[in-house]
Amino acid sequence: MQVATFLAYLVAAVLFITGIRRLRKPGTARSGNTIAAFGMVIALVATFLVVEVDAAWVWLLIGVGILLGGVLGAASAQMVPMTAMPQMVAAFNGVGGGCIALVALSEFYQGAAETWVAVISGLLTVVIGSVSFAGSIVAFTKLQELAFTGSVVFPLQQVLNALIFVGILLLSANVLADGAIVEAVGAPFLSPLVSLYILFAASLVLGVLFVIPIGGADMPIVISLLNAFTGLAAAASGFVLGNYALLIGGTLVGASGTILTRLMSGALGRPLGKIIFAGITATATQKGDQQEDREVHDASPGEVGEYLSEEANKIVIVPGYGLAVAQAQGPMHDLMETLESRGKEVLFGIHPVAGRMPGHMNVLLTEAGVPYDKLYDLEDINPEFDDTDAAIIVGANDVVNPAANDPEQDTPISGMPILEVEKAKRVIFVKRSLSPGFAGVDNPLFYDTEKTMMLFSDAKQGLQEVVEAVKSA
Ligand code: TAP
Repeated sequence: MQVATFLAYLVAAVLFITGIRRLRKPGTARSGNTIAAFGMVIALVATFLVVEVDAAWVWLLIGVGILLGGVLGAASAQMVPMTAMPQMVAAFNGVGGGCIALVALSEFYQGAAETWVAVISGLLTVVIGSVSFAGSIVAFTKLQELAFTGSVVFPLQQVLNALIFVGILLLSANVLADGAIVEAVGAPFLSPLVSLYILFAASLVLGVLFVIPIGGADMPIVISLLNAFTGLAAAASGFVLGNYALLIGGTLVGASGTILTRLMSGALGRPLGKIIFAGITATATQKGDQQEDREVHDASPGEVGEYLSEEANKIVIVPGYGLAVAQAQGPMHDLMETLESRGKEVLFGIHPVAGRMPGHMNVLLTEAGVPYDKLYDLEDINPEFDDTDAAIIVGANDVVNPAANDPEQDTPISGMPILEVEKAKRVIFVKRSLSPGFAGVDNPLFYDTEKTMMLFSDAKQGLQEVVEAVKSA
């Protein structure tokens, strides 16, 4: 490798690490992103210095690829709404994993994987990259609610997973032994290359089967895990291709993805082993089930405003996904100011998986001008509900659903710690209907007519009307 390329990779690696470090705080995150992207440009240019291309049309192909990828990436980053960001992350992550798997396959096809290290790394790249590709595409369809919504389970699913996994191990051993294993059992048609293609297909199927049973609280954890998989596959492909930038970049993504996965599974009380190996055997309440014929306290903005003005002193607001969809952060900020000007204490309870991506609610509310010190994490806000007069839940369901703690129910959110709004004197939901949330689990709090007021409205309009009602009360 040329010295210039090696040094450029080193600079890129420093920029990647600096970028990731700056992502830790909202104030430095944007510049962190730019720094890491600049590192990627340097790595890309440095790679051109060492690639051996003998025909002009290959350069043309590379140019077209870069142009298409660049335009698609830039356009979708501009156009995709904040609420659809996890889908975009899942799709891009999947494309990365699939791309790396194909690169490793082509190395095998050209007979370039000659050493044991290269063959083992190549096999890991194909398997992990394909699982990540297929799993991420399924995650995309789930998040976009196109297919596989909720937990998709069928009999003997785990047995099928185990069989496919054993098959992948046997085929890998055959590739490693240069076809000797299948020759010994009388199946010489399974050449190493054919074994590799079957292994590729089996890994894709495993990726699909791995993600379809996941729903509700486990979805963010799985997205982060798939991200870590793609990083590991990229690092392994760095060995196959002898490329330091892939090795370093892949290791960074793999390590940070693994740390994030562990942090999230710890915070949500969802053991990773259970998610990966046991799957979710629950069947979620289907959206719309159990809603008919049950009485609720249908409240008007005026009634809510009157209660807040006259009877509530301490108020906790809980934002969720619907707040982001309705872009209601501005009116929520107005409500806070209006209530505070009437001498009320207002706090915000933020659940770690509220919305559709980590930090979703914090970003929206701080952009709208809600001070940081009013945003309370799950552990800090839960003790506050005992003496709270009103918990206002805006466009949220799963993160406040007491069904998660019900030992009688086995749902995709069972065991997930929730914001314990049911302890407040009054609970006020601002949402459009009795539909459940992402996990599809009905919320018993909706039907507690003594405690709960349901303000059926779009979050933005509903909050604006409550602000007016408080002002005129
Ligand atoms: P959800 O449980 O998904 O509930 C959102 C609620 O918003 C729905 O019940 C919906 O009810 C309401 N809504 C939608 N549009 C609205 C609008 N325009 N105005 C008012 N309400 C509206 O949200 P949550 O409580 O924030 O929980 C998040 C869920 O997403 C969890 O299950 C979590 O595991 C999952 N998830 C999270 C992440 C991350 S990292 N945050 C990533 C992937 C998945 P109506 O239709 O009745 O209005």
